[in-house]
Amino acid sequence: MTARKKATKPLKIIHVVGARPNFMKMAPVYRALQKHKVKQFIVHTGQHYSQNMSDIFFKELRIKEPDINLQIGSGSHAKQVAAIMHAFEDVVLKEKPSLVLVYGDVNSTVAAALVSAKLGVPVGHVEAGLRSFDMTMPEEINRIITDQLASLHFIPSKDAHANLLREGINKKKIHFVGNVMIDTLITFSGSIMKPRPEHIPFETYGVLTLHRPSNVDDPKKLKAVMAELHKAGAKVPLIFPAHPRTKAMLDRMKNFALDKRKIHLIEPLGYTDFLNLVYHAEFVITDSGGLQEETTYLKKHCFTLRNNTERPVTVTEGTNILIGEDFDLLHKKVGEALKKPASERKKAPARWDGKAGERIAKIIVRSVA
Ligand code: UD1
Repeated sequence: MTARKKATKPLKIIHVVGARPNFMKMAPVYRALQKHKVKQFIVHTGQHYSQNMSDIFFKELRIKEPDINLQIGSGSHAKQVAAIMHAFEDVVLKEKPSLVLVYGDVNSTVAAALVSAKLGVPVGHVEAGLRSFDMTMPEEINRIITDQLASLHFIPSKDAHANLLREGINKKKIHFVGNVMIDTLITFSGSIMKPRPEHIPFETYGVLTLHRPSNVDDPKKLKAVMAELHKAGAKVPLIFPAHPRTKAMLDRMKNFALDKRKIHLIEPLGYTDFLNLVYHAEFVITDSGGLQEETTYLKKHCFTLRNNTERPVTVTEGTNILIGEDFDLLHKKVGEALKKPASERKKAPARWDGKAGERIAKIIVRSVA
């Protein structure tokens, strides 16, 4: 990367997205870059392809349709990453971008970063530096490799700075810009904070999401987790927009049926409908990463069914409690949450202020030649 002298030709940026959590991260960066003289090209890898896992987000978040969809679809990690690399290389060779922007920690992120770095194209990583220190998580591998390959690291919280320095990243490449997910939440807060949807048959409820391989891929484990969640659902019903991966596993499980009065399974929701559901919930039980941040911002109790988190500020400054497999703790916390809303914090974590996208755009325009 060299300092930008005279802008002879406009910057051309390729955004690479593929899975559901990428879309709300790209939206504010795309919008902010529109204010600068920058050409933007969106590549959708097709890692997520169902209408309610992908298309709905583009419409709702008012992002233009992808310029190209690589239609990779599902597969083993090796097959998915390899297929994305194979197809994306041609795109980079043809489009000759000045920078490739990748988001978060999914397979599309690491695949695009590998292709770009090998072709000598600078990579910007949005949501850099997060670490769970758990190498059994595929996302942790994706995060570490992507950060090694990136030239611009846009970090959402201060802890990410120390993580990157420890891995030998030059501090000049690290930019504390804030949280792009929260930018999107703020942009759409009018729709998120509207009255509770009428089709939800409960006035008081918790929200449940579950999709991590560590929770859902082993039927024995999933059955045990679901038994505990039924206990929680006996106190107050849990609304469960089930990820297709989880739904497929539940459908396959013999001698197992959900009790609808305790766990109310619905299809995955679009962005504002989902956060509207969360906004009116008493608490959230989840294994998602982004939802730990959204509940912290919305001041909702969040009980995370994981032993670790790559988002520690949601625990130290927010409303997140790591439950791991301590279901006695979960039941206790659910009981408490029903009596008391999440404690009012004075403010959100630093730079979770709706301006992360703008900060990223300014840094890109200033630093990419
Ligand atoms: C991926 C990400 C994960 C992220 C999650 C958000 C990786 C390694 N994992 O996990 O970090 O939290 O997205 O959802 O990149 N499927 C559909 N329709 C779709 C997409 C998937 O039916 O549009 C089903 C398929 O059966 C597929 C399964 O879900 O095999 C898993 O999809 P996949 O993209 O492999 O991983 P996710 O579990 O979604």
